[in-house]
Amino acid sequence: MSDLPLVIVSHTLPAGWLDKMEGRCRMLIGPVDATRLSDELAQALPQAEGLYCLLTIPVNHALLERAPRLRVVSNMAVGVDNVDVAACTRRGIPVGNTPGVLTEGTADLTMALLLSAARRLPESSQDAREGRWKTWSPTGWLGADLYGATLGLVGLGKIGKAVGQRARGFGMRLVYSDTQPNPQAEAELGAVYLSLEEVLRHSDFVSLHTPLTAETRGLIGAPQLRMMKPGAILVNTSRGPIVRMDDLHQALAEGWIAAAALDVTDPEPLPPEHPLYQLKNCLIVPHIGSATQNTRRRMAERAAENLVAGLEGRHLPFCVNPEVYPE
Ligand code: GLV
Repeated sequence: MSDLPLVIVSHTLPAGWLDKMEGRCRMLIGPVDATRLSDELAQALPQAEGLYCLLTIPVNHALLERAPRLRVVSNMAVGVDNVDVAACTRRGIPVGNTPGVLTEGTADLTMALLLSAARRLPESSQDAREGRWKTWSPTGWLGADLYGATLGLVGLGKIGKAVGQRARGFGMRLVYSDTQPNPQAEAELGAVYLSLEEVLRHSDFVSLHTPLTAETRGLIGAPQLRMMKPGAILVNTSRGPIVRMDDLHQALAEGWIAAAALDVTDPEPLPPEHPLYQLKNCLIVPHIGSATQNTRRRMAERAAENLVAGLEGRHLPFCVNPEVYPE
């Protein structure tokens, strides 16, 4: 058997996406559609020196306990809320992610959702398909204008900024909240910094772009939804648990807000019997923010670069816990 280090790759990826790892390690690869680490892979954890995984794999205390030789965790995602980063840091294990390459794709999808919800595309398309398009109706399928409307960005990181740039092209006014003001982004976008409450109260559209952390879990619940305008539309392309799903259902069913468009839900996948699917004013897509050919491939490659760097004892190019490295 070769003495290359063993790397567990949680899922099968398309040919070529992991080329950068070829010859650098022995890969044990899970099934394409795995919803958890397969038994075969889990059994190999004691020998594994690297873990390459998707955001659906919880890299938690239990997994780490079974992997005493692990030297690098590479997540093929920008979000790392599936990884117990603190536990990895305690073990001195660097954790890699894939920022940057999915910014534009995710911002595109955010605008697609925002426009679809504003102009009621899913509902009107279904009506056309099912014979309810009887004539050109002056009052049929009326939606909301983007031009002149205020977009509230909750989080002005890379993706929030990219959404802001697109929204400016649509003639929207921008406000944002974040842990602190971002003067450079403000200057570039003409965005106004407000508290979260003010953003919610003043925006016609609210788009969430914050990582999932202990502080942001449940950030948007009943009190926040009640602050929003009755005509407001909520878009979430960040992480599902930032919004309290039951509260959102009530807000949409009772008309506290006009509509929501969700790329992310809690849980994922959202089971088909979930009541949110029954609401015409709720558009749900299956976590496809980064789902373009180029973006996904670049994410995979970036994650492969992180993995190889970790195996070779180099700093990961994109590391979320650089404190593992001595000064
Ligand atoms: C996708 O949601 C990611 O975090 O990359």
